[in-house]
Amino acid sequence: MLEAGIGRAVVAMEDPDPRMRGQGLRRLREAGLEVVCGVLEEQARGLNPGFVSRMSRGRPWVRLKLAVSLDGRTALANGQSRWISSKASRADVQRWRARSSAVMTGLGTVQADDPSLNVRLTAAELGQASPPRQPRRVILDTGLRMPAGARLLDLPGETIILTGDPDPGRRSELERRGVRVVSLATHHDHLDLQAVMTRLGDLEFNEVQVECGQRLAGSLLEAGLVDELLVYMAPHLLGSRAMGMAMLNDFDDMRERLELSFREVTFVGPDLRILAVPRQVG
Ligand SMILES: NC(=O)c1ccc[n+]([C@@H]2O[C@H](COP(=O)([O-])OP(=O)(O)OC[C@H]3O[C@@H](n4cnc5c(N)ncnc54)[C@H](OP(=O)(O)O)[C@@H]3O)[C@@H](O)[C@H]2O)c1
Repeated sequence: MLEAGIGRAVVAMEDPDPRMRGQGLRRLREAGLEVVCGVLEEQARGLNPGFVSRMSRGRPWVRLKLAVSLDGRTALANGQSRWISSKASRADVQRWRARSSAVMTGLGTVQADDPSLNVRLTAAELGQASPPRQPRRVILDTGLRMPAGARLLDLPGETIILTGDPDPGRRSELERRGVRVVSLATHHDHLDLQAVMTRLGDLEFNEVQVECGQRLAGSLLEAGLVDELLVYMAPHLLGSRAMGMAMLNDFDDMRERLELSFREVTFVGPDLRILAVPRQVG
């Protein structure tokens, strides 16, 4: 840079990779360049939250996507949830999937919906030149009870089942079908979600989009493992017997509630798309 006659470098943020931290900037300073660091840092972090998260916290950036009715319901009491949100919202979800390293769900959703969790928009529809990269599919299945006929087992792309059950028979049956089965620690009969996130970080997943039901959503929120909520709110009511957004522990006091901040609210077709982030406590 000095040879090119550049005397001053303005840097938005330091490389968050702990292997690199500070080295590049130090070298520039040692070479006599004036270095200003941290200009528009928040915006720079926002451009690549997944990489920053994995480098600084060892886990991916986690986006919880939910389709809800105006009364915050995600499925009928009988488990039906197709389709809560509009076609336009579902196409929008595809765009968020396309930028994710992985789409994750719980066994309950696989059993109820038999989802594909893949990107079905074409390159042209996504506004890109290359064909869409399929995010990995990650299923949380503590007891390794994945139905043999699940659609996602036969789709192109990689499926990873995170499980607490080392049953070798079930495991090799799934592995023969090309599934990667990873055993993890459990906590109160379900997967230890901190261990899940650490493993996803080790797998070098930067951004993970979670598309699950109320049980996994509640556990993730309670564990403080949701970085943003992507909520498509459709203009209809499903009533109080329908399933909620997140199964949380009962609160006895309003001060216990999980506080969020709205970051963005836009119309997508007839629905509202709400981006919200958990509010930092303290
Ligand atoms: N509207 C929407 O956005 C939307 C999206 C997806 C699904 N849904 C609906 O949601 C319903 C399914 O909800 P659900 O609550 O049964 O399923 P879920 O939240 O998708 O999955 C829950 C399952 O994940 C597994 N799991 C593993 N570790 C866990 C942990 N630490 N905490 C919580 N779960 C863990 C558990 O199974 P094991 O521990 O036994 O393995 C649990 O049964 C369906 O009716 C579906 O249609 C709605």
